[in-house]
Amino acid sequence: MNTFPEAPGLRLAPSLLAADFSRLGEQVAIVEEAGAEVLHLDVMDGHFVPNISFGPPVIAALRPHTSLFFDTHLMIQEPQRYAESFVKAGCDLLTFHIEVADDPQRVVEHIRGLGASVGICINPSTPVSAIESVLGDVDLVLVMSVWPGFGGQAFMPEVLDKITELRRRVRDDQRVEIDGGIDANTVAAAVRAGADTLVAGTAIFGQNDPREAMRELRERSLEALGSNA
Ligand code: DX5
Ligand code: ZN
Repeated sequence: MNTFPEAPGLRLAPSLLAADFSRLGEQVAIVEEAGAEVLHLDVMDGHFVPNISFGPPVIAALRPHTSLFFDTHLMIQEPQRYAESFVKAGCDLLTFHIEVADDPQRVVEHIRGLGASVGICINPSTPVSAIESVLGDVDLVLVMSVWPGFGGQAFMPEVLDKITELRRRVRDDQRVEIDGGIDANTVAAAVRAGADTLVAGTAIFGQNDPREAMRELRERSLEALGSNA
């Protein structure tokens, strides 16, 4: 099991959802060689979100081909029921949505018991107060900047206040991740607000040259980080 990469300052997390599914291994190799710190895996069940993506068999097939940290975003109901299959498939971190968890503390403990890192996710309309009971116990908080379910949607700047609030409240060993509509134009605002882990699907895999797209995203985010200091 990998621990979350300690890249200086910022981590780019390409989202596989926007990759060419007919050649996933090659696509992962491209972003790994281009210096991605983590790989964001969007799991959708067709119930919590109105779309279905991929599950443990696809993740297990990729695992031997990369050493990237598998940052798994579970957009599913009953995350506890499926957590073990995802860990066995090779996921390093499992992030579940607060909106599906009646007893989030139990889900956090269950995932930890499986040996994985734990993240908690909030939808655009869910306030930070909803995750109060587990905020101190997770490795990562994921703030959705689009409604979950589909790639390629427009960034929602109104969620940035939640990023700022979380940045003030988390410890140094906890991550604040933002997901949805991150591209060369929106990434600076996310970084300035305090996000340290930046998910980008369309803005990386949807581009003709994913390497160049990553370089630009990194440059824009480092500039924003610099102007923040
Ligand atoms: C949306 C997913 C995102 C998605 C982001 O439900 O959670 O991770 O892949 O895609 P872009 O970067 O295209 O908004
Ligand atoms: Zn995601």
